[in-house]
Amino acid sequence: MGNLDLFSLEGKTAVITGGAGVLGSEIAIGLGKAGAQLAIADIISTKEIIERAKKAGIKAKGYFIDVMDPKKIEKCAKEIMSDLEKIDILVNCAGGNSKNATTSEELSFFDLPLDALEKVVSLNLFGGAILPAQVFGKIMMKNEDGGSIINISSMNAFRPLTRIPGYSAAKAAVSNFTQWLAVHLTQEYNRKLRVNAIAPGFFSTKQNKYLLWTEEGKLSERGKTIIAHTPMGRFGEPEELIGTCIWLASDASRFVTGTVVPIDGGFNAFSGV
Ligand SMILES: NC(=O)c1ccc[n+]([C@@H]2O[C@H](COP(=O)([O-])OP(=O)(O)OC[C@H]3O[C@@H](n4cnc5c(N)ncnc54)[C@H](O)[C@@H]3O)[C@@H](O)[C@H]2O)c1
Repeated sequence: MGNLDLFSLEGKTAVITGGAGVLGSEIAIGLGKAGAQLAIADIISTKEIIERAKKAGIKAKGYFIDVMDPKKIEKCAKEIMSDLEKIDILVNCAGGNSKNATTSEELSFFDLPLDALEKVVSLNLFGGAILPAQVFGKIMMKNEDGGSIINISSMNAFRPLTRIPGYSAAKAAVSNFTQWLAVHLTQEYNRKLRVNAIAPGFFSTKQNKYLLWTEEGKLSERGKTIIAHTPMGRFGEPEELIGTCIWLASDASRFVTGTVVPIDGGFNAFSGV
């Protein structure tokens, strides 16, 4: 196959947090099909995704994790290490926005409750990036051949989107932390341990359903505006994240660290005119 061997994940182990979610499960299956064995970790049941992986001939096991709790992350990491012995890839897919941290006709910015804002920032920044990087990164830094950490940023990290101030701030911080950690890990611990992020454009999933669709199942005004600002004229399909994740997880990107890669049908490049 010549150069395509560079993209192979054969012999590598990937941990995917939030791996039972819409994007996480698709990325997991994609990495599995590229040869990785999978540790799929989530706060909800991983039964369905594990069955799907096994049907596709992928070696996969499910684990409980609460990415907001360092002790539970450590317990999960211990279990994975005792089962699989090595962790090469960490994909931090746990995250999301919530309705009570979103401005609307009923809820103005001035009334957004602190606990709702704190929850969204914590889930995406601490649970979605920093805490798993502390626990899994400490294990991965010992790998002679390094490894790859992939965070999930967002379009609103480049320019904030209306209505979701907490989520926008958190994802901007995830991009910033991705750069910080990339520099820190290579300078201090392991020249081959890389950290990058993907920034998905707009994918219709359960966490943003209430923003993109009306209760009758029609595109919301916001959904229509998004499509109008996406030069490719549609939402992304979750499996369209796979190619970039395989590239970032594999030796094909072995000199790439500290980047945030948009996968957005051109949304971020388009000024609107
Ligand atoms: N859907 C989009 O258009 C879009 C765009 C950009 C970024 N993202 C990001 O992609 C990531 C995945 O989102 P998704 O759309 O697949 O949403 P999703 O809700 O389907 O998946 C998120 C997963 O994280 C898990 N999770 C939540 N809290 C957890 C915790 N404390 N511990 C462990 N797991 C926890 C959930 O159980 C769920 O399985 C998130 O970071 C999200 O912000 C999504």
